[in-house]
Amino acid sequence: MSNYIISIDQGTTSTRAIVFDHEGQIVSSGQKEHKQIFPHAGWVEHDPIEIWANTREVIGSALSSANLTRHEIASVGITNQRETTVIWDKSTGQPVYNAIVWQDTRTQSIVDELSGTEGPERFKRRVGLPLATYFSGTKIKWILDNVEGVRERAEAGDLLFGTTDSWLVWNLTGGTEGGVHITDVTNASRTLFMDLETLQWDDEILEIFGVPKSMLPEIKSSSEVYGKVHGRQLLREVPVAGILGDQQAATFGQAAFEKGGAKNTYGTGNFLIINTGEEVVHSKNGLLTTVCYKLGDAKPVYALEGAIAVTGSLIQWLRDNLGLIKTAPEVEELAKTVDDNGGVFIVPAFSGLFAPYWKGDARGVIVGLTRYVNKGHIGRAALEATAFQTREVLDAANADAGVDMEDLRVDGGMVVNDALMQFQADILGIPVIRPKVVETTALGAAYAAGLAVGFWDTTDSVTENWAEDKRWEPQMDAPERERQLRLWKKAVTRTFDWVD
Ligand code: G3P
Repeated sequence: MSNYIISIDQGTTSTRAIVFDHEGQIVSSGQKEHKQIFPHAGWVEHDPIEIWANTREVIGSALSSANLTRHEIASVGITNQRETTVIWDKSTGQPVYNAIVWQDTRTQSIVDELSGTEGPERFKRRVGLPLATYFSGTKIKWILDNVEGVRERAEAGDLLFGTTDSWLVWNLTGGTEGGVHITDVTNASRTLFMDLETLQWDDEILEIFGVPKSMLPEIKSSSEVYGKVHGRQLLREVPVAGILGDQQAATFGQAAFEKGGAKNTYGTGNFLIINTGEEVVHSKNGLLTTVCYKLGDAKPVYALEGAIAVTGSLIQWLRDNLGLIKTAPEVEELAKTVDDNGGVFIVPAFSGLFAPYWKGDARGVIVGLTRYVNKGHIGRAALEATAFQTREVLDAANADAGVDMEDLRVDGGMVVNDALMQFQADILGIPVIRPKVVETTALGAAYAAGLAVGFWDTTDSVTENWAEDKRWEPQMDAPERERQLRLWKKAVTRTFDWVD
């Protein structure tokens, strides 16, 4: 009897496997971090072979910690860091280069060149995205242009491209022995190559980028049986039946199925997604248009997205690069040693600024320093940066929608941080709500995979399983909120136009 679904969450810093039961509760899990490779300032890479090895390992830990075998697993769902680009040889299974991570800014000159006289919004009406270093398309072009011999091999049809969902599904389903080369609409919508209306690759844009279509995966829905796990793997013969980019998966796991439903995920970066139903809505305020999900043959559901590159990774930076804290959760203690930010604002434009600014040449700043400032203020300003950036994308979302959001559902690693969540509610001026299961990303992919094999019948099960855990009400008075925001926005202007 198959009582469970396993979800693989291939994230920016780690890979996890989580087993869920029919009530959407966590039964067991396994997790392993992978190396962050920084070859030059602004470059971020991962080793795809390490990620695949970690995936197998965490599947093993999740199964063994609950004494489960493959016979008890109805299907596998995949969710992933989006945009991170892997190119590999289809006959050897070897990547031709490290994965170029979504945060990597090396492709700015490609962005400038392709923007030409039309500007970065050149393809936005078709693909929903501005030209920016963030998306896979510029990263593929960089590898084709810069890694010796790769363009010829790609043109000969020997190479495959994928985001990490495709990379894992290809390996899970057999790799060089017949692995399926696919992606889902949500991941495809982050490449700059998918037409949002047809949900197919756009030949003209591919031609402009010089990317051979033969290397691209087939675009599938987010919930259907793509293939079965192959060979001697622990999950052999279990159907792989759901794929959602991690932010779309979290939207699904938060049961934001209605038009206007929204969630904000606090991970390495922050991503606010608002469901816009079957309509492709174009933002006038710096948000992205993206596919939210597509269940089998049903019509696609679209979303607007406010993507912030650096939130949780700023705390990792305090830990790894400055040594201010030993573990990421310690930042809450550090922040509590002071009553306020002491006038300090940190704008972590490490990858330029994403929404709502889209400024590739911005770089991070710490402003407001005086002799009074201590490390507590820095810790506090780092946490507050997450809340301020979220406020700016929420303002953009409200402006696009023409109505103000009444509350915000949150999830992700940082929502266990009480001080941050209170400050978030204070700066937004609306309640912030955390669900009981905060692993909404893995849960969303589990639901997509479970719906495809009849483990759940409809999305109503997801809605029924969703439950509120905690809510933070705003406590800051309005004039103070406005003063803080004014200072924040002034700090943001100090990051602009920094790159020579
Ligand atoms: O677009 C990037 C996003 O998918 C990464 O998410 O949670 O791995 O930081 P996360």
